[in-house]
Amino acid sequence: MTAAAIEVAGLRKSFGSQTVLDGVDLRVERGSVFALLGPNGAGKTTFITILATLVEADGGTAVVCGHDVRHDREGVKRSISVTGQSAAVDEVLTAEENLRMMARLAGYPPARAKARTRELLDRFDLRDAARKRVKTFSGGMRRRLDLALSLVSTPPVIFLDEPTTGLDTRSRQTLWAIIRELAAAGTTILLTTQYLEEADQLADRIAVLDHGTIVAEGTAAELKARVGGEVVELRNARDELVREVPTDGSVDALRDAIDGLDVLGVRGASIAIRKPSMDDVFLALTGDSAPAPSAPPASIQKEAVR
Ligand SMILES: Nc1ncnc2c1ncn2[C@@H]1O[C@H](COP(=O)(O)OP(=O)(O)OP(=O)(O)O)[C@@H](O)[C@H]1O
Ligand SMILES: [Mg+2]
Repeated sequence: MTAAAIEVAGLRKSFGSQTVLDGVDLRVERGSVFALLGPNGAGKTTFITILATLVEADGGTAVVCGHDVRHDREGVKRSISVTGQSAAVDEVLTAEENLRMMARLAGYPPARAKARTRELLDRFDLRDAARKRVKTFSGGMRRRLDLALSLVSTPPVIFLDEPTTGLDTRSRQTLWAIIRELAAAGTTILLTTQYLEEADQLADRIAVLDHGTIVAEGTAAELKARVGGEVVELRNARDELVREVPTDGSVDALRDAIDGLDVLGVRGASIAIRKPSMDDVFLALTGDSAPAPSAPPASIQKEAVR
């Protein structure tokens, strides 16, 4: 028995000649939110589907809530809920009917199934759509229903594969709040995301998957620290960036960086100290540009980062 909710060692998976997971090691503590970040095609969905016992690994071990994904699939399935890109939504039924059916399947007695359904319709802003058939839903409505369905019952571990993709800002905020509440109540959440900001805001720990292995793992602060502690910026009178110097964040390093700046040579010079962004981290670790289209551009000088 392990204390961690999820423990993965040396996990491998290939599709034909393509190696997708090349020895992934990961540990997720109970009651934590863990974000798996990686560029398109990095293997995030493959990883989740293996943990959810939907796909078999070629090698390595994965244990979820003490159940081995290879030898105890039923035990794993009882411990998890998974939201995927393909939903178990019945198109002909209404949102309300789908939710109530799921609640009954999860073992709720009728009155509690009804109450839970109403609660989820409210939370995911689906009240007006409750009596409409799912086949008439917009993409965003479908997405919200899919999420609501996966949260009808709350098993110890929830996998969310890109849960906020396709959601508007308000629905995203709602989902973040729900994820935080679930974690506070002891649920373990493993999510994948394309949004660096999301990982930064939500996750207790973050792992970056690239070329089949975890290239970095830690808290958002630790990952940022790997890129450099604080960045000293020198700006001119027009607030234009003249120079920036990454440091390890220590007082000595900051003092040296500031001393090294040619402050007198710049009219109206001002100095600011900032932390590296998650985008800086991603760029430094994977050599790729950030996966999120909305992510702000990296602004640390790259040669100084490594
Ligand atoms: N069933 C499959 N058969 C063949 N190749 C597959 C299969 N599933 C995934 N792949 C390949 O494995 C690689 C990883 O895919 P995966 O969906 O796990 O990536 P991802 O990190 O989830 O990407 P995205 O960010 O686009 O969702 C891709 O190159 C994909 O084409
Ligand atoms: Mg994916």
